[in-house]
Parts: sequence; C-alpha cells; structure tokens
Amino acid sequence: MASELIFRGHDSPPVSHAYSPKPPKPWLTVARPIHYMLREQRLVFTFIGIAIATVIFTLRPSPTPHAPITYPYISSELTQQHPSTYQNGHLTTGFGTGSVGKIPLGLKRKGLRIVVTGGAGFVGSHLVDRLMSRGDSVIVVDNFFTGRKENVMHHFGNPRFELIRHDVVEPILLEVDQIFHLACPASPVHYKHNPTNVVGTLNMLGLAKRVGARFLLTSTSEVYGDPLQHPQVETYWGNVNPIGVRSCYDEGKRTAETLTMDYHRGAGVEARIARIFNTYGPRMCIDDGRVVSNFVAQALRKEPLTVYGDGKQTRSFQYVSDLVEGLMRLMEGEHVGPFNLGNPGEFTMLELAQVVQETIDPNAKIEFRPNTEDDPHKRKPDITKAKELLGWEPKVPLRKGLPMMVSDFRRRVFGDHKEVASSA
Ligand SMILES: NC(=O)c1ccc[n+]([C@@H]2O[C@H](COP(=O)([O-])OP(=O)(O)OC[C@H]3O[C@@H](n4cnc5c(N)ncnc54)[C@H](O)[C@@H]3O)[C@@H](O)[C@H]2O)c1
Repeated sequence: MASELIFRGHDSPPVSHAYSPKPPKPWLTVARPIHYMLREQRLVFTFIGIAIATVIFTLRPSPTPHAPITYPYISSELTQQHPSTYQNGHLTTGFGTGSVGKIPLGLKRKGLRIVVTGGAGFVGSHLVDRLMSRGDSVIVVDNFFTGRKENVMHHFGNPRFELIRHDVVEPILLEVDQIFHLACPASPVHYKHNPTNVVGTLNMLGLAKRVGARFLLTSTSEVYGDPLQHPQVETYWGNVNPIGVRSCYDEGKRTAETLTMDYHRGAGVEARIARIFNTYGPRMCIDDGRVVSNFVAQALRKEPLTVYGDGKQTRSFQYVSDLVEGLMRLMEGEHVGPFNLGNPGEFTMLELAQVVQETIDPNAKIEFRPNTEDDPHKRKPDITKAKELLGWEPKVPLRKGLPMMVSDFRRRVFGDHKEVASSA
C-alpha cells in the first residue's frame, strides 16, 4: 500500500513548484509609457506646460542682487521727484550687509522694528508719525525731559506703537532693526543740565552692535562752532570752543560723531550721521530759548521780540517735514555721511523777526539784548552732498512753514478755548 503513494513512473516528470522569474523584455519598459502618453494625449499637455514656464521666465525682470525694490509706503509722487534714490536704494533690515534682496512677487514688504530715542520730542514725534504711517513697528524711548506724551498720544492703542519711559544714559535691550538716536536736549536752556550726548550715544551704539541694528545719529550744525568757512561743507572740521558755555552740546555731539564712526569702523555697526541745521515747526517746545519758537511765542503774547546782539547774525531755517524726509532717506540709503540736512535759505535775525511780524503781528516790537557767549555769526548749510547722494532737498520755504507752526503755537499758548473763540 505504501508503494501506491510513491511515484509510479508516469510519463510526465514531476512538476517543480520553485519560483522562476520571467525573462526580461527591455523594449516593453520604454514602449509602455510612450504608448500611454500618445494614447492619452499627455504629450500635448507636457509641451503646453513647458511653453508657459518659458514665457514666465523670459518676461520676469532679471533677479540681479541689486535689483531695485519698490517702497509701498512712499507715494509715487515722491519716487518720481527723487528717482535716483529709490532706484539705487536697497531695503535694509540692519542685519548682515543690510540688503535683503528682492521681495518675491505677491509678498508685501514686512514692516521694520524701529526704536526712536527722543521720539516724544519735537523732531522725534514727527519722525514717528512718518514711520507709523508707512507700516513699521515703532518703540519710542524717552525720559520726557523736554518731550511730551501729547506729541505721540495719537498712536496710543495702535499695536505697532510702544512708549517706554527710559533715560538713555542707562542701558536698554530691545530687538530692533533700526535705531534713530535723537534723545538729547537740543536747546541751550536744557542742554546745559544733561550729559545725554556721550553716555546715551554710547549705550545706543552698544545696543546697535548687540542686535545688529542700523544706527542713525542726529548730530548738529553746532559741530561747526563759529564757522570760518561759509557755507559749511561736511568736510569742514569746525571752529569750536571746547570749554565755553555751549561746549557740552557742541563737543558732546562731536564726541557722539566720533563714537559712531568708531563703532562703524571697529565693530561693523551700520551707521548714519545727520548734521541738522535749525529746524522749526509744530510741537516745538515753547520758551526753550530757540529763536523761532521764542519770536513766535513772544509775538502771540504781544511781547517784544528779543534780538540778541545787533541781529545781523544769520541762520537758515528748515521746516520739520523736510528734515524728517531727509532722515528717512539717510537711514534707507547706502551712505554713512555725515550729511548736512538744512535749508540753505539764509536769514538774519532781524529778517526772521520781520517774517514773524508779517505772519502774526505787524505791530510787534523788537528789543535788542546783549549777545550770548560763543553765538555763531553765520550758519548756512551746503547741501550738495545730500542732493547728490540722497536725492534730497528742502521743499518748504520759511514764509509757508511759519504759518503752520503759528497755528499750533496759538492753540498751545492760548488753549483750545481761545482758539475756538477766535475761529468763531
Ligand atoms: N531742532 C533742531 O533745530 C535741531 C538742530 C540740530 C540738531 N537737532 C538734534 O535733533 C534731535 C531732536 O531735537 P528736537 O529739536 O526734537 O529736541 P527736543 O528737545 O524736542 O527732543 C529731544 C527729546 O529727547 C528726550 N530726551 C532728552 N534727554 C533724554 C534722555 N537722557 N533719555 C531719553 N530721552 C531723552 C526729550 O525728552 C525729548 O523728547 C536732538 O538730538 C538734537 O540735538 C535738532
């Protein structure tokens, strides 16, 4: 029986169940996809795709590393007025080389994080207004020595705005892309009491170095002292009394410039220096001893306009919006400076008094007083460098700017009650 279960010698040999692969057919691996593409007309779609991609890459502007960047926050009118600046200007974040290259199509420019020291003051608050309106996030650092909350309180509640009460002679750490360093009492009445220039500038430069921010110093025409060269060019080294009553300001700003350049050269801080000439406008401190605010407040109060010396010393007067435009161009541009930012229109103190009389009160009297020590005889900026490299020059003449300042002063000197009464 057992023998029946074993192979009995049938004709065919036993079938093997071991796996044996099929012989390869190389022609089939190529032929199948081709056949599929032809049958489904996939080839047509492939060619259409290639054609679309070719058209897009041909028409696209060439992505060179220095391709111009459009500034969505700057009006087309402005870019037309100063095409050179914006064609050559690069959007900067303050990190690395400062150029972030081309923004991809469809992506909006990201707002910058900017600290403005002295941002509650006269110039600072106007600068803050411009930065906020272009979409940046702004941190104002101010100790309110001469600044006022009223100057920036219209931004309270805006999530892009912060106000920090802080004295810049103490260090502070903030993560920002740019630092506009304005904090410094700017009028003779105040600057004699405050060592802000040197220590404050050192702290802000330290911050710029630490977080890789671009740093702009607002220096002054006072670095030229009582100038022996007229008008003053940036290459002129000045004529300053190092031990006079004004020296804390003049020499303080000169030291601030030196520190800025040392941090630029030695620590690689991206620095900008503006030398600001006399600026006027709304929100200036009343009674701070600066000539324009003095004359305007005196004329409004029916007091005599006090002219120091013979009144023949000259100054140039720049409206604040022109200065703010210059500061923003300087920060965004490629040049360190220093740059003179001022209005080259030159007026004697007596001529200024006449313009104030014409604007406010033709009967205002003029009273002469002995001149203060080290008062410069002449002051007029040469702005050739700013015109050529920043595409900037002032637009508002004194006779147009003064009335805008007068209406702000009228409101602050007399209060809203009188303003309402007089307009009624
Ligand atoms: N306005 C001009 O004609 C003129 C001319 C040349 C230079 N500048 C420079 O421009 C800048 C702004 O001047 P401004 O006319 O707006 O003067 P401002 O006095 O109105 O503003 C200065 C601001 O700095 C603040 N500040 C002062 N010391 C500070 C400190 N230690 N810490 C923090 N905040 C401090 C003040 O409270 C104020 O808000 C100053 O650096 C000034 O030297 C102005």
